[in-house]
Amino acid sequence: MAAAPGPNAELIKAADEFAAAVKNFDGDAMAQMKLLKEADRLRFLLESPFDRMMKQWESTSVISALHLLVETGALEKMPQEGSVTPKEIAALINIEESAIARALRLCVMEGVAVETAPSTFAHNAKSLAYATPGMREFFRITIEQLKAYVKLPDYFKSHTQEDLFDLKKSPFAWAFGLEGLTYYEAISHNPDRFNMFNQTMTQMEKQVPILGMFPFSSMQAEVEAEPERPFVVDIGGNRGHCLVAIKSEAPNGFGAKMILQDREDVIGSLTKEDIPGIETMVYDFFTPQPVKNAHIYYLRRILHDFYEPVCVKLLKNIASAMGPTSRLIIADMILPDRTDMAGDMTIYWMDFSMMMLNGKEKTKAEFEEILSEAGMEIVKVWPFAFGTQANIECRLKRG
Ligand SMILES: C[S@@+](CC[C@H](N)C(=O)[O-])C[C@H]1O[C@@H](n2cnc3c(N)ncnc32)[C@H](O)[C@@H]1O
Repeated sequence: MAAAPGPNAELIKAADEFAAAVKNFDGDAMAQMKLLKEADRLRFLLESPFDRMMKQWESTSVISALHLLVETGALEKMPQEGSVTPKEIAALINIEESAIARALRLCVMEGVAVETAPSTFAHNAKSLAYATPGMREFFRITIEQLKAYVKLPDYFKSHTQEDLFDLKKSPFAWAFGLEGLTYYEAISHNPDRFNMFNQTMTQMEKQVPILGMFPFSSMQAEVEAEPERPFVVDIGGNRGHCLVAIKSEAPNGFGAKMILQDREDVIGSLTKEDIPGIETMVYDFFTPQPVKNAHIYYLRRILHDFYEPVCVKLLKNIASAMGPTSRLIIADMILPDRTDMAGDMTIYWMDFSMMMLNGKEKTKAEFEEILSEAGMEIVKVWPFAFGTQANIECRLKRG
């Protein structure tokens, strides 16, 4: 068996850099993300191959314990303050108390909940997150996807290579016995999954930020000069959270319309109070864009849902509505040309996740290619301060 690495220069250097960065840490969110990444790196440098496998076993056990506690409502039944015994929780949800105790102990080992006295447990901030709507749905959708991930080898055994690119043959839909439906039809097929997905879209602000890239506030003079043109059309905008965020930089949309477009059931699930001051529109982005000559067409986390030929169709529909000064802002991650262990993980797990629904993360060159095919060009890439998230500002090709 391969031994654990002994003391070595790389490990010592990483530890020294980590210690220095911790001493300078001022609570800044980006610095915290970088430190977490460095802490992972330290562990990777220290562990043997077997340590890695053990860690994975631990992680899958903890995830399964959390799954049990979330789905049975055990975490929700724990008081927000004060302690409780597994026996007391068991009485509320009709589950054998030892199963609850064993699952809770595993969670405590990873810092989720605390054991305040022998076999007495209490929430901490991390366990409370799993009992909070929104965050809980975020966790639940990872489990939903896991169910499809474990079937991937069988998917490939039973499908042709081309099937992976067929919108009606996604690994996700197949895993749930829904082959023939697109991913989004499969999402809508089950109300619980539909809600889980929509709640999840409004989370992840830290890993997938909305603001801090393209300066929406800089559009003020331009929009106020032509307020009859819509300010932002958010295509596939889900619950309107991006428009709400953009509005915080552009009060009242600088006097112009802000329009949210999505599928019928998504738009139908929203109330006016959810998105004050935002107009909604049921729209299929595989049809020509009906809102003409807007200042900005905004496309966040849409292109990564699809492979290139589908993206080109979608982009052509937007191009057909754009005027000479319209901007298209693509908010997506940009796949680095090379994988670096110390880099941000988000894009890689997201890319694998997108494979389940006939999509992929793309490099800058791949974005340039699909945009060019749709008659557009990149004006500027606005990267986020950390990770691979960016806003790609585009316009109709000139010259
Ligand atoms: C990955 S989510 C992204 C949501 C949002 N833009 C964000 O970044 O949080 C994709 C969105 O596209 C919507 N969508 C899927 N197919 C669509 C279609 N054919 N026409 C319009 N919207 C669609 C989904 O309902 C969902 O809200």
